[in-house]
Amino acid sequence: MARTRMDVWTRTDDEGTWPEVLVAYARAVEVMRSLDPVSGKPRDPLSWQFQAAMHGRATRTGRADRSNPLWSRCQHGSWFFLPWHRMFLAAFEAVVQHHLGDADWSLPYWYALDPDRRSTAVLPPAFRENRPDNALFTPNRSVLANGGDPLPDVSDSVTQALAAEPFATDTGIASFGGGERSRPSFFGEEMGAIEDTPHGFVHVVVGNDFDAQGNTVREGWMGSFFTAGLDPLFWLHHANLDRLWQVWLDADPEHRNPPDDDPAWFRTSFRFPAPGGGTTTYRVGDVLDPEALGYTYEDLSAPSTFLAAPGAPGGPGAPDDGGIGMGGAQAPPPRRHVTPQVVGATQDVPLTRAEPAVVELAEPSDLGLGEAEGAAPTRVYLRLEGITGTAAAPAYEVFVNLPPGASGADHPELLAGRLATFGLAEASRGDSVHGGNGLTKVFEITHVRDVLADRGRWDPARVAVTFEPVLPVPSDTDALAQASTGAVQPPDLRAARVVVLSA
Ligand code: C2O
Repeated sequence: MARTRMDVWTRTDDEGTWPEVLVAYARAVEVMRSLDPVSGKPRDPLSWQFQAAMHGRATRTGRADRSNPLWSRCQHGSWFFLPWHRMFLAAFEAVVQHHLGDADWSLPYWYALDPDRRSTAVLPPAFRENRPDNALFTPNRSVLANGGDPLPDVSDSVTQALAAEPFATDTGIASFGGGERSRPSFFGEEMGAIEDTPHGFVHVVVGNDFDAQGNTVREGWMGSFFTAGLDPLFWLHHANLDRLWQVWLDADPEHRNPPDDDPAWFRTSFRFPAPGGGTTTYRVGDVLDPEALGYTYEDLSAPSTFLAAPGAPGGPGAPDDGGIGMGGAQAPPPRRHVTPQVVGATQDVPLTRAEPAVVELAEPSDLGLGEAEGAAPTRVYLRLEGITGTAAAPAYEVFVNLPPGASGADHPELLAGRLATFGLAEASRGDSVHGGNGLTKVFEITHVRDVLADRGRWDPARVAVTFEPVLPVPSDTDALAQASTGAVQPPDLRAARVVVLSA
C-alpha cells in the first residue's frame, strides 16, 4: 500500500494550524538542525544543512561548493529537473522517517498556485508563526509572504504548463519538462514549462522582496539554488511539482515521459545519502512511477481550468477524429518530431528596458497563417536564450506585439507567458560548474499570432517582446520598507539571443 502525500492546506483546514503531519515534520527539522555544527561545513549526511547542500551550497566566493561529492548536484534547465528532484525528495523523506522512527510519514505538498483555490497562495500558517521554537518559520523569506500576503496570481501558468508537450525536446520548441541533454547539467540551460513558472516563480516570490520598480530589496533562502533547501517550505513546494508531473501524465493520453529506449534519460543516475549509512543510487528509469517508490498523492486531478482549455480533452476545440474513423490513427504526430525553422533572431538584447526587444523576421512571414485548408496549423515559438544578469531580478510577464504605449494589464491576450528568474545569478557566472550559459526559456506563441491575425494586426515583418515585472501588491508597505537591506541594484537582464521559430 502506497503512503499518501497530503495537501498541506487541506490538512490545515481540517485539523487546524498544526496538522499532525506538520507537528512531526517540525520535530524532524529540529533533530536535523541539531546535527549541524554551530559553524563550518555540515558533516552528518542526515543533518539539515547537509541535505540542503546536496541541492546547492555556495563557497565563500559564491561558487558551487563541491568539496563533498554529494553537494551542489541539483539539476535545472533540462529534462533531469523533474526526476532529480523526485529522487531528492524520496531520499529526504526517508531521512525524515528515520529521524521520526515512523516509516509512514509522508511529505505534505503545498499547491501554491492552484487555479481552483486562490486561498492556497498564502503560506500555510504553521510556517508563518514567528516564534523562536517554531522550526518551520524563518525570517529568511519574503516579509510579505511571511506576513500572510498571497503570492501574485499567476495560477494560469499551471494550466498552461499542464497543456505543454512533449516532455522534452532537443529541437528548440517548448516542452513540459525541459530540454534534452545527453549529460546532466547543473546550471541554466533550457527550462520546461513547469520549471520556470510555476516552479521558479514560487521560489522568487517566497524568497525575495521587491520594491514598486521591480528592484530586489531583500533576498531570502528560497531565491537561490545555494540556500533554497534550508527553508522547510522548499520540500513542500517540490512535493507539489512532483505531483504536477503525475497530473500532467494523467491529464492527457498524449502526454508521455521520454521513451525508455533513450538511455541518456533512462539510465542516468544520481546518488543520495541513505538513512542507514552509505548512499542510495537512483536511475531515472527507476523513479517514473511514484507508487513504485511507495507513495501517491491526496489529489491528482487536473485543475478545472485545464479541462476547459481549448484543445484539452473534452474542452472546446478538442481534436475529434474528423469523421475519418475511430480516431487514434489520424492523431497528429508528436511534436518532438517536427523540425522547427528559425524565422528570425536577434543577438544580445537587454530585456528590462522600457523599449521592446524586436526580432525582425528573415522573410516577412505570416508564419503559416495562409496555409491550405486541412494542413496542420503552424506553431510559433519564442525562445529567450542565455538570459543572464548581474543583479537579482523579479519575475516578468512577457508580451508579444503590445501596441505602443499600452500596458500588458490591458492585453492579457498578448501574454506569451512568464519568466521567473530563479537561478539567474548561478546561471550567469562563467566560473561555475556548467555555469555561464544563462537561463533559456521557450514560449509557444501560436495563440498570440492567432489573436493578432484575427484582428488583422499580425505584423509579418517583426515580433516585438515586452517585459513587465510581476510584483506582489504589499498589504503592509511599512514592513516592506523595513525589510529593505539597503543597496538596491536595478535588474539588468540580457538575452544572448531572442529567436522566433515556426514548426
Ligand atoms: Cu532545484 Cu525548486 O529547485
